Amino acid sequence: SAGLVVAIDGPSGSGKSTVARRVAAALALRYLDTGAMYRAVTWWLLEQGIDLRDTELAGRLAPEIPLHMGLDPDEPTVRVGETDVAAAIRESRISTAVSLVATNLAARADLVARQKAIAADGDVVIEGRDITTVVAPDAAVRVLLTASEETRLARRAQELYGNVDATALDATRDQVARRDADDSTVARFQEAAEGVDVVDSSRMTLDETVSAVLELVEKRT
Ligand code: C5P
Repeated sequence: SAGLVVAIDGPSGSGKSTVARRVAAALALRYLDTGAMYRAVTWWLLEQGIDLRDTELAGRLAPEIPLHMGLDPDEPTVRVGETDVAAAIRESRISTAVSLVATNLAARADLVARQKAIAADGDVVIEGRDITTVVAPDAAVRVLLTASEETRLARRAQELYGNVDATALDATRDQVARRDADDSTVARFQEAAEGVDVVDSSRMTLDETVSAVLELVEKRT
C-alpha cells in the first residue's frame, strides 16, 4: 500500500505552509504546496500575455504548462520549464490574479489531477484549500488549520511588511479580506468536512501547532 498522506487545508495566514513543511521534515515525508501550483500557472499565463478572464483559453493552456514541483520540505522548489519562479509567484500581482485561475474549472481539474498523482505515491504532506475534501479525501490524516481573523491578519502583516503597526495592518486587511472572499468561491475550506480534525492555531506558537498536528498523526495512524 502507498505511504502516509497528511492533508492540511486552511485559509491564507493560518500558517499552514510553515506548519506543513515542519511536519513533513519531522516525519521524513515529501511536501507539496498546492497554492504554489495555482500561483505558478498564473505566473506563466501572465508571462505569455494571456488574459486570465479568457476562461476557455486559460483552461486549454493549463495542462500544457511544464510545472515542476520540488518536494523536499527543507528546500521546496517551483519551476516552470527551466525557470525558477519561487520568488516571482509571491509577488502581489500574482496574489491578486490567482483566484482567476483557481476558479477556472478546467485549469483546476488539471491541477487537481496532478496533485492526485503525487498523493497516490504517498509519503507526502499536501497543503491547500481542497486537499482534505477533493485531492486526498482518503488521506490517513486530514487537518483543517484555522486561526482567528485577527491572528491571520497580524501574521500576514508581519510577513509582508515586517511589523504589525496600524499602517501595516490596514494595508494587509484589504488583501486578506479580498482573498478570503475570492477563495470562499473556490472551496469550503473554512469549515471542516466530516472526519477532518480542526487545529485552531490562534493562541499557539508555531512549535505548539506543529506538535498538535504530529499528535494527530500519531492518533490516526
Ligand atoms: O496557499 P496560497 O495562498 O499560496 O494559495 C494561493 C491561491 O491559490 C489561493 O488564494 C487560492 O485561490 C488558490 N488555491 C486553491 N486551491 C488550493 C490551493 C490554493 O484554489 N488547493
